[in-house]
Amino acid sequence: MNRVHIKTYGCQMNERDSEAVAALLRARGYRIVPDENACDVMLLNTCSVRDAAEQKAIGKAGYAAQKKRRNPRFILGILGCMAQNRGAALLDALPDVDLIVGTQKFHQVPDHLDNLRAAQEAGAVLPTRIVDIGEEAGSQNTIRDHVLEDRQVTAFVSIQQGCNMDCAFCIVPKTRGDERSRPMDEIVRECEELADRGVREVTLLGQIVTSYGRRDYAHTGGVTPFVQLLERINALPGIRRIRFTSPHPRGFKDDLIQAYGRLEKLCEYVHLPLQSGSDRILKAMNRPYSRDRYRRIVADLRRARPDMYFSTDIIVGFPGETGEDFAQTRELFEEANYDMAYVFKYSLRTGTPAAEMADQVPDGVKEERNQILLRLLEQNSDRRNATLLGAVQEVLVEGPDKKGLGFMGRTRGNRIVHFAADARLLGELVPVKINRVSTAVLYGELALAGVES
Ligand code: 5AD
Repeated sequence: MNRVHIKTYGCQMNERDSEAVAALLRARGYRIVPDENACDVMLLNTCSVRDAAEQKAIGKAGYAAQKKRRNPRFILGILGCMAQNRGAALLDALPDVDLIVGTQKFHQVPDHLDNLRAAQEAGAVLPTRIVDIGEEAGSQNTIRDHVLEDRQVTAFVSIQQGCNMDCAFCIVPKTRGDERSRPMDEIVRECEELADRGVREVTLLGQIVTSYGRRDYAHTGGVTPFVQLLERINALPGIRRIRFTSPHPRGFKDDLIQAYGRLEKLCEYVHLPLQSGSDRILKAMNRPYSRDRYRRIVADLRRARPDMYFSTDIIVGFPGETGEDFAQTRELFEEANYDMAYVFKYSLRTGTPAAEMADQVPDGVKEERNQILLRLLEQNSDRRNATLLGAVQEVLVEGPDKKGLGFMGRTRGNRIVHFAADARLLGELVPVKINRVSTAVLYGELALAGVES
């Protein structure tokens, strides 16, 4: 009766939160199982950033509720952003849910499950339900335990929770609360411990990582706390690569741009959310930069690292977005020459300023604009991958690939590569010669002659 299945929706932060919950549950004697059809407890860790994500989780919860009717002891829990956003009102839509846990209470999940099970044992007549969605000081420090797979070489490290920006479209400040950073020493120690357990690449996570520690640590010689943190992780011998997500364009001041020139472990892949290329729409979105400022950041980063890869987030169909506004986005999209992009159709989020704005854009127009950018992205990706054909790339060997044909790893530019290797190379940085490419992945072979680029 102790088999828990956790299903995660949404961003890497959510994946990381689920992993931390799994680690706590294991320590409490629960088993984490991959099969949703063979579990006693199902926990859905949810996303609220767009309506589609909420609908998916609601659909899954409805399906899980059927299990509950067959087995009254089955426990169904909703965790994370949708739990935080909708709170107890979720129980109206989903009367079979036993547990609702918000984004600052993940660490309470083991206690809540213990209590629900104890109530069942005691033969509670009425269903017992728990709703725990309060704020909790210090909760950012509770996302620290890891469940590492056998020989896992990459890991997410949560450095911060919440966001104090007020982007007009975004529900995250409501679901994740105010910005709260973890102590730098604890993050560095966590990375060190991960390295001792075999991890070679860390991805630092937060809603706005470039603001990390801004109220807790002083700038030292023009260097922000975030870059100080990068420096300290760069100095850890066991860690070979550092990535982070998501930053804010306003965080790309000289110190961070220069970090790309001097911190050799910092991968030359930047996720730089643009959202819109129109100054008018950026202003309506309450994004504090202009298209020109954004272009300068891209140019500065390319100067620091000519081989930089860029990825972005774009919202099409924000209220009031005209054809001319979209043309500006499209132009900047082409100019920045993104290697990767996440293009979203604007989704109205109740409670955000944009939900009240006039001139909501029809679905068909959003879809059309979405398709245009996705086609451009495909062309960009093909173009970039074509330049890699015949090149030797440094690849971190991550594990067997899903097809069981060989191994997979990533380049510093975050391209997935498939190649034949030996299990002894897991966790090693190896030179791979790229000899075939598709839009999404690269194929290659170990190149014993060494890395060149
Ligand atoms: N509609 C569509 N996309 C959104 N995002 C955030 N809020 C919305 C919304 N209401 C996108 C932004 C953000 C990414 C995580 O999700 O592009 O960067």
